[in-house]
Amino acid sequence: MTPFDQFRDATAAIQPRFAVVFGSGLADAASPFTSVASVPFADVPGLVPPTVAGHKGRVSVGHWAGVPAVVSFGRVHFYEGHPWDRVTRLVQLVAECGVTTLILTNAAGGIRDDLNPGDLMAIRGHRKLLDAEGWKTLATENRPPYSLLAPSLPTGVYAALTGPCYETPAEIRALRAIGADAVGMSTAMEAETAAALGLRVAGISCITNKAAGLGSGTLSHHEVEATAKLAVARLAEVLTGLIRGQSGETR
Ligand code: HPA
Repeated sequence: MTPFDQFRDATAAIQPRFAVVFGSGLADAASPFTSVASVPFADVPGLVPPTVAGHKGRVSVGHWAGVPAVVSFGRVHFYEGHPWDRVTRLVQLVAECGVTTLILTNAAGGIRDDLNPGDLMAIRGHRKLLDAEGWKTLATENRPPYSLLAPSLPTGVYAALTGPCYETPAEIRALRAIGADAVGMSTAMEAETAAALGLRVAGISCITNKAAGLGSGTLSHHEVEATAKLAVARLAEVLTGLIRGQSGETR
């Protein structure tokens, strides 16, 4: 049996309804999760191993604080050179597993003044700026795919850019002007795909830095990973709250 077959068998037995996807440096927030079966991205048909530091590239099925769940340690990004159907393959996979609630987490730069490194933000909407069309259609944002918000968190709008470079200060001023509160390079397409498949979707950004031009110094992936570590204990609590709240558990 391949690792993927084992994962599928375990999924059939466990029947997870929740999935969590961990972004850069955030996988340590999975402390409430115990894995039963785990498969590297490389062994999942349609997925590829990640190339980004801080992304392990494994999908596991098991229990989150006792609740059946799928957890993805890492994701696939457009800036790694992948087509969108590969970026969203993970979402297809969790939907195939029978998951009905997907929680997407990411590392993001804070644009709104009150969003500081180490803070968490519940995504209530996004600006999808992944091609020229995104900038043209700003005024006609569709219904946001995020139907589940962590009640304890401030909410905000996430600007999704393709990367791979961090933004310039001028780009951040433009993003602020169109109502973005935080900026990153993932999540939007995954959230839309999941909502289109009928999943309930939550998005949580971990603010790892002030966006370009708003803080001191130059941005680096190392800083993003180091600051993400400061937020993992809190993120674990928020995720457990969401999962228990949705599963009707009272423990
Ligand atoms: N910009 C884009 N992506 C990010 C950032 C940022 O400032 N921080 C973490 N991911």
